[in-house]
Amino acid sequence: MVSRLSVLFSLAVAAVAAAQDIPAAEIISRRSHIVPGPLRVTELFFRVPLDYNDPEGETIELFGRSVTGYEVPIVPPEEEEEVSDLPYMVYLEGGPGFGNREPQNHPLTSTALERGYQVLYLDHRGTGYSTPVSTNMLNQLEGGEDAQVEYLRLMRQDNTVRDCEAVRKALTSGMSENQAKWSIFGQSYGGFVSLSYLSLHPEGLREVFLTGGLAPVGRSAQEVYEALYPRVMKRNEAYYRKFPEDIQNVRQVARHIESQGGSVDLPAGGSLTVPRLMTIGIDFGGAGGFDYVHTTIKNLKTSLDQFGFLTRASLVPLETFTTFDTNIIYAILHEAIYCNGPNDVSNWASDRVAKNLNLFSWLSPNSSVAANSSEPLLFAGENIFPFFFDTYPELIPLKGVANKLAAVDDWTYIYNQTQLARNEVPVYAASYIDDLYVDYEFAKDTANLLRGVRTWETNAIYHSGLRTNTAEVLGALFNLRNNVID
Ligand SMILES: *[C@@H]1O[C@H](CO)[C@@H](O)[C@H](O)[C@H]1NC(C)=O
Ligand SMILES: *[C@@H]1O[C@H](CO)[C@@H](O)[C@H](O)[C@H]1NC(C)=O
Ligand SMILES: *[C@@H]1O[C@H](CO)[C@@H](O)[C@H](O)[C@H]1NC(C)=O
Repeated sequence: MVSRLSVLFSLAVAAVAAAQDIPAAEIISRRSHIVPGPLRVTELFFRVPLDYNDPEGETIELFGRSVTGYEVPIVPPEEEEEVSDLPYMVYLEGGPGFGNREPQNHPLTSTALERGYQVLYLDHRGTGYSTPVSTNMLNQLEGGEDAQVEYLRLMRQDNTVRDCEAVRKALTSGMSENQAKWSIFGQSYGGFVSLSYLSLHPEGLREVFLTGGLAPVGRSAQEVYEALYPRVMKRNEAYYRKFPEDIQNVRQVARHIESQGGSVDLPAGGSLTVPRLMTIGIDFGGAGGFDYVHTTIKNLKTSLDQFGFLTRASLVPLETFTTFDTNIIYAILHEAIYCNGPNDVSNWASDRVAKNLNLFSWLSPNSSVAANSSEPLLFAGENIFPFFFDTYPELIPLKGVANKLAAVDDWTYIYNQTQLARNEVPVYAASYIDDLYVDYEFAKDTANLLRGVRTWETNAIYHSGLRTNTAEVLGALFNLRNNVID
């Protein structure tokens, strides 16, 4: 009898946890400005629990900007500051680890406003102005590394979904249930958050738009990199076909770094090592990426030819490829975002897979790549390596924390495949066949799993299509939405 009661009790607890009731966020401040466009931009700060399982505990702030069109009135009204009741579209940025641009500089704004939405650009927790995570703020937590790990564990997609629900309840209070749903638009990692939203709180959603955001649901971090590395290798071939002279130029720069004891100080702090040089291939997945990499190599080579050392001007462009120092979540949680539930352990998947497949000579311990060889040095893609925590000044103090996060084996669930299979929220997804960051085959599997998704696929646009091919991508997505085929 006792055991039966305890079973009933734990079932009840599970049911409560599944339909977790998210309290409305507290609106701390709301301030509107008219900006060129003209547009009305409203800056909003909210307060939400750090941990939704402890709603009375510590809180964090979230920041968002909502935007609507604006007409300059002939007679200025006595009181400005009205709240728009247009339906919301919430934009979820890629990353993880990045806040939003200002609405007037965002490719989505004008199209979404023309289509009758107001747009809310909400910074994910820990990014932008949403109590952004940094090494100094983590150092202020009491409890050392373990407390830092506990804090960072709360910065993944499941809690961003809860934040969105808390903010939705605050902004739509007083509306009918139907009116109060909102549309979301997820780019890349923002799409991963969207799939988590569809899994955990579909009741908040009217419709979902995705660009390069069909997350590899059901795949481990290891499977993700096993799928992505062959794509990175193909991009290396294409790069050196386009710039064959860079085979020698990259080696020349690598030889110089090695002649300096393996490391050259960078203007913004930290150091340039050969492995770090080889990670600028992260840009191979965007339109124009080859040319950025080539220009960067050319800067370094020309400086060496003319002066025999690397000038500040030649080094600065290199620092802009990977902003791990200002967006540490991008490094420290990059693999954690693939861990769905207990037993999924990331354990430096990028590094492990690359070493198992012996992809990069520069990744072997104590390797010297300066030896004269005609083999090209190969670039990595969007990969996080443990050595980042030796070369980026903001990451160096977090090495122990990163190692602990890599070993976590009791992650929360971020996706629910049962729920995705019975999904009722319309989803419109742009999927890029040659995506270097979100594997297309896995994206297809997710599209097959997700009930009711309509996809538009192309191999003519890369992952950055929302920015580089705005009209084409948004046109395609709204066609998916508005074409009635049944
Ligand atoms: C690499 O070099 C370090 C320091 O010189 C040395 O301690 C280590 O044993 C070397 N590792 C290998 C695999 O040769
Ligand atoms: C590599 O080439 C340079 C320049 O031609 C030469 O000075 C150097 O001795 C060579 N190194 C090796 C290991 O062969
Ligand atoms: C997953 O979703 C299904 C269907 O909504 C639900 O019955 C189940 O409890 C969910 N699983 C978890 C672990 O929340």
